Amino acid sequence: MKFSGLVYLATAVLALPDVSNPVPQNVLQPVQYRVAFAGKQDAAVVSWNTYGKPGYQPTVYYGTDKNQLNSKSTGDSNTYDTSTTWNHHVRIEGLESDRVYYYRVGGAPESEIYNFKTARKAGNTKEFTFAAAIDLGVMGPYGLSTKVGNGASNPLAPGEQNTMDSLLQNIDNFDFLLHPGDLAYADYWLKEELEGYIDTGVNTRDTDTLFKNGVQTYEALLNTYYQQMQHITSFKPYMVGPGNHESNCDNGGTSGYTVQTCFEGQRNFTGIINHFRMPDSESGGVGPFWYSFDYGLVHFVNFNTETDLGKYGPGPDSVGGSDNMDSGEFGEDGEQIAWLKNDLKNVDRSKTPWVIAMGHRPWYVAAKKKHRCLECQAAFEKTFNKYGVDLVLLGHRHLYNRIHPIDDKGNIDPNGLNNPKAPWYIVNGAAGHYDGLDTAKKTDEPWLAYWQDTQYGWSKFTVHNATHLTHSFVVSSDNSLLDTQTLYKSRGQAITKRQVKKDKTSAANALSIGRFVIVAFFLAFFF
Ligand SMILES: [Fe+2]
Repeated sequence: MKFSGLVYLATAVLALPDVSNPVPQNVLQPVQYRVAFAGKQDAAVVSWNTYGKPGYQPTVYYGTDKNQLNSKSTGDSNTYDTSTTWNHHVRIEGLESDRVYYYRVGGAPESEIYNFKTARKAGNTKEFTFAAAIDLGVMGPYGLSTKVGNGASNPLAPGEQNTMDSLLQNIDNFDFLLHPGDLAYADYWLKEELEGYIDTGVNTRDTDTLFKNGVQTYEALLNTYYQQMQHITSFKPYMVGPGNHESNCDNGGTSGYTVQTCFEGQRNFTGIINHFRMPDSESGGVGPFWYSFDYGLVHFVNFNTETDLGKYGPGPDSVGGSDNMDSGEFGEDGEQIAWLKNDLKNVDRSKTPWVIAMGHRPWYVAAKKKHRCLECQAAFEKTFNKYGVDLVLLGHRHLYNRIHPIDDKGNIDPNGLNNPKAPWYIVNGAAGHYDGLDTAKKTDEPWLAYWQDTQYGWSKFTVHNATHLTHSFVVSSDNSLLDTQTLYKSRGQAITKRQVKKDKTSAANALSIGRFVIVAFFLAFFF
């Protein structure tokens, strides 16, 4: 099925649920569909939610013909104390790579049929495009909107389209969506209420009273976000990572509520852990925190800037960290860093010459020093440099920065984007966020190649081949492209090695066949 972005745009606008009552009439109605790559190219994960507890094992019916969904897989369900929904996850295996599959989820009532395309095998040389949106959040009246609250610095202009709209309009133009952190911004619920963005019907400005009803408001915002995203994520694999707003309990710094007073579902990445299944077990990683997967000519690595920084920590959200969120740790001491080194060391660059790493907090960014994650830099930069990571994608600050390729000693690569040795950093946290964009600071840094802080947008990457990759900032309001740049990397050695190996194998095969013919000839002659 070919789907039109415009049709789904209309659906998305109409589908925005009432934040005070986002529950469908039938609580077993599947909502919040999302698909994800499952590490291997013959597998995928289909997930969805229901507001009620289903009396059946979650099941996905699927096939390559939408009229014959003859295959089925079953999975598991989970929830947690303060959640208003159940998460269902089904892993499907035995799929063909780079192929469209149609699916519906089982149970009552039966769902509509959606489709997604499986990942390409590592080494597939076909050009492809992927999207990245970081720091996104709820759109519409309860999130990023044209309504200006106190402190909102860059609201949308009336009638201006937002990042979700833009992604929907471009949905036929990218294969999957990356989102390393700050997904729904549901933790801003109290600040949004006090600023007049949300009216939950509780007629008070008393924060303690509002706080008592906070669970419902938080969950409503979270569910609204996932439901809005369904129009993208039911079709396009959605690969996520952790940001501070999956863990924050301070409600945007409104009122001094802390991890000690916050409810369970808002703390310690509880929502993201339960809501998603990333390919962690397939890549030796941990949950949505650190994992990797291959797609065509690229090895993708998701790393966690929030916790688990080992000896370089504590991570910003860990106990004693700069944001002091009492979150994590999710692995043994130093496990993430050791995993990252091992993962990068074992990349077969003859198959996946490109290595792209995604995380949340930047260290090269046009912001005051306190907003640069120096502990993240200490933990990751040397490893990225050592193992020749081509591109590092980050967000967190709500603006767009393109950084010159730069090594771990602070040297700007003299080659620029023309075959640099050092990684190229892109910081794009300008996707949404109800409270506006951040004003760029310290813009005289020599490593800052380009910045803008007035337009919402997302990142579009096209991997043309083993040597050329193009990135553009897509302006959400009109889908125009800003700051299009192409990175060139010479792959001489890796490609040559692969070719030599291939040639050697062919030569060896030819030699074997030759030997067989000669032996057969002599046997026939003498006997
Ligand atoms: Fe963030």
